[in-house]
Amino acid sequence: MRYEDAAWREKQRIRLDVNNVFGTHGLTPAELEAEAPRAAAAIAAVQERRADLGWPLLPDQDVTPFEQFAAAHRDRIDTFVVLGIGGSALGNIAVQTAINGPFYNLLPREQRGWPRLLVLDNSDPELNAGALRMLDLRRTMFNVISKSGTTAETMASFLYFRQALVEAVGEDRLGDHIVLTTDPNSGFLRQIGQREGWTMFDLPPKVGGRFSVLTSVGLLSAAMTGVNIRELLAGAAYGRELAANPDPLRNPAALGALINYLCFRKGKPIVVMMPYANRLRDVADWFAQLWAESLGKAVDRQGKPARVGQTPVKALGATDQHSQVQLYMEGPYDKLINFIAVEQYAETAPIPTAYADLEGVSYLGGHTMAELIQAEQQATAIALSEAGQPNITHIFPEINAFTLGQFFMLMEMQTAIAGELYDINAFDQPGVEAGKINTYALLGRRGFEERRAAIAARAQALDSRWVV
Ligand code: PA5
Repeated sequence: MRYEDAAWREKQRIRLDVNNVFGTHGLTPAELEAEAPRAAAAIAAVQERRADLGWPLLPDQDVTPFEQFAAAHRDRIDTFVVLGIGGSALGNIAVQTAINGPFYNLLPREQRGWPRLLVLDNSDPELNAGALRMLDLRRTMFNVISKSGTTAETMASFLYFRQALVEAVGEDRLGDHIVLTTDPNSGFLRQIGQREGWTMFDLPPKVGGRFSVLTSVGLLSAAMTGVNIRELLAGAAYGRELAANPDPLRNPAALGALINYLCFRKGKPIVVMMPYANRLRDVADWFAQLWAESLGKAVDRQGKPARVGQTPVKALGATDQHSQVQLYMEGPYDKLINFIAVEQYAETAPIPTAYADLEGVSYLGGHTMAELIQAEQQATAIALSEAGQPNITHIFPEINAFTLGQFFMLMEMQTAIAGELYDINAFDQPGVEAGKINTYALLGRRGFEERRAAIAARAQALDSRWVV
């Protein structure tokens, strides 16, 4: 395997270039150096908690069960459908787009070799009904993913497609079309799986949703679509090694955490993640959840008011140069922009020469689209830097399973280290509970009558003049 070769691994190292963070509205090297001891302590704290957190140990797991399951079912399945939301879906989508590319599902089966992947991560009725109209249920398998086994959106989709399957293949064949991924000990999904005798994959109890892409959550659908999950985990192991460097100024996860933390403290509450590759656009989406849900907290670990966390913005280069970059250039100095640059794209797409007399077009001829997008990334970074807008660049040597796994781990470590710097709990999400409880109350779930009454009273008090 190429990832067993140390020289190859070193060539695939993602580098973090922070030169453009320095400047009038950014940081100074002295500020980074002054905070380095705190960042070193944060690295040590995260390293100490590796076993307790669970996700840092994921690169060491045995992935044979996922590969065996995929090999056993790939030929009888046209479409593998993930039903999940948040941390039970975003990583699956990110892996799929990054490794198989945006057109994978549109390729003929002979070219793909593996089933199509659909991730239905919303209770949007038109999304679910539209998918149902399109699928041949006799050749479809549903992977219902919910750690808690109670999430309303996921359970509703499960009930919806379960009924459709009963009608299409019969109740006694459901087990051929449904596989569950959930907590090994608790939750309604576990109870259902046990009652029905369906195949279930365990989700390590310690690993929270947004840190679960490298568990059964992300690995089963990845294996089902031919992704090299061993290389993905080898990359994550390599990222873990880089993030264990005790010197925060040589450790990309710690340096990233420190820069984000200091930028936040210096009035930059927004972080932009802008990959220059369509294959990485969903990785930006995955990062947005990781960063927002982990670091957006009202109180610190002592329970004192904190109100911290940067708002993540997802952008795509070069597309969003024609949409958001005007704001990044001339708007407030309230952002840290993260570029993702790619050194070697899998394809270069040469630009043919034509219209030699028209300089505004002919200069492109003889170059490649790879050169163009790389030039655009560099040009934008320089322009922002000269405009005083701090930015940093994550440099992917290539996009492959190894670099993707590495980036997942680096960003998870960066998040954990940032949590230490803010002194908040990066692994809970109390802020999403209130909305869930209100949903239960509105749908009449037993036990939520009091909340339902409170919502009704609130509705009574609303003034219709303010609905225009
Ligand atoms: O990161 C998280 O914990 C959340 O985004 C969850 O993944 C999301 O709410 C789905 O939860 P569950 O997997 O329990 O259905």
